[in-house]
Amino acid sequence: MSDTTTATAASVAPASTETVLSVENLKMHFPVKGSGVIRRTVGHVKAVDGVSFEVAKGSALGLVGESGCGKSTTGRMVTRLYKPTGGSINFEGTDIADYPGHKLKPIRREIQMIFQDPSTSLNPRHTVGSIIGAPLRIHNMVPKDKVLGRVQELLELVGLNPEHYNRYPHEFSGGQRQRIGIARAMTLQPKLLVADEPVSALDVSIQAQVINLLQDLQKEFDISYLFIAHDLAIVRHFCPEVAVMYLGKIVEIGDRESIYEHAHHPYTQALLSAVPDVKQAAVGGRRERIRLEGDVPSPINPPSGCHFRTRCTFAKDICSVVEPPLLQIGKKHKVACHFPGELHQHPEKPVTAPLLGVDEFGAPDPGASPAEVPGDGPGYADTWYDLANNSRGRA
Ligand SMILES: Nc1ncnc2c1ncn2[C@@H]1O[C@H](COP(=O)(O)OP(=O)(O)O)[C@@H](O)[C@H]1O
Ligand code: SF4
Ligand SMILES: [Mg+2]
Repeated sequence: MSDTTTATAASVAPASTETVLSVENLKMHFPVKGSGVIRRTVGHVKAVDGVSFEVAKGSALGLVGESGCGKSTTGRMVTRLYKPTGGSINFEGTDIADYPGHKLKPIRREIQMIFQDPSTSLNPRHTVGSIIGAPLRIHNMVPKDKVLGRVQELLELVGLNPEHYNRYPHEFSGGQRQRIGIARAMTLQPKLLVADEPVSALDVSIQAQVINLLQDLQKEFDISYLFIAHDLAIVRHFCPEVAVMYLGKIVEIGDRESIYEHAHHPYTQALLSAVPDVKQAAVGGRRERIRLEGDVPSPINPPSGCHFRTRCTFAKDICSVVEPPLLQIGKKHKVACHFPGELHQHPEKPVTAPLLGVDEFGAPDPGASPAEVPGDGPGYADTWYDLANNSRGRA
């Protein structure tokens, strides 16, 4: 990083928390086949295009964004249901991104997934006992004559009647079926749970109960979560850290306070404006509503520069030319926007331009001395770019 600029970035001791998962520059580009006989690859769906994040032991990272942003694909790569096109997935210090099938069996025990729709993820022809017991048998976790006992313990753990092991999924309510899905995920005592919209299909009244169950399990077994949701309200209480995705990229990531109280990305601000604010409602106020016009563009042909520019009310010339880097702007806060700022405080000039060596229109600036951007990669650096003083951070 540059040492030619004033060092105004704050500095703190490195966090001592243990990292379970560290994902770097993860990509999933699905090939798009032509319609001819040969079915040549004619393009790629860049479902996930270079995301980096960390999950600390016993903690939860929320992954939010509208439908089609690449959240599920990210979750499926972390669980290695998909083999990534590029990047690394460090799980407890080992990169599993390229692991071949036969090496994945122990990983499947450690990383489990909870799916959105329990009705489709549970086989309707199998009893609950057989569904929950299957992983125990496959992985030879307990002797055959002990499987039923373990299944009953698991049913009890998730708040279901242990005597109901002989029933079929359709005999349970939606919330109970999700509890079965959670019991199945817990069977192998995983260290990391990837929960993909685990409560989105449930009634609002049931959602809190299932979230509480996930929280209880987290406390009891020190489980770490990658918690995927499309709206920011759901993850607020569950996740101390949140990453906001848009069109295959993380546009803002930070601790709870940075994201909910000091969002700096226009997309996060728009998502937040749709969330009812309890504190403001109590004093008769309302959060300003920012409309998100249109849909997420296709990841086959995303907009040039900043992917969000076609829907961003703050977009300026540079936004269509240069992609904004993910810039660390606080102790635990990164944002990918040329004009990062709290609502109504977005700066006039692109703060990223000098770092990238371009002018405010995005053209190369011969007088500039580009610097490494603080914030690239998973986790947080101990120094960052200080927006208040508008100067480069220093490692
Ligand atoms: N197997 C696949 N083949 C091709 N495109 C896919 C595949 N899975 C997902 N996509 C596309 O990738 C993008 C991201 O999808 P997804 O990860 O499911 O988003 P989210 O979970 O955020 O709604 C979408 O445009 C989706 O259509
Ligand atoms: S970089 Fe430009 S288009 Fe993208 S979010 Fe920031 S202001 Fe909007
Ligand atoms: Mg999804």
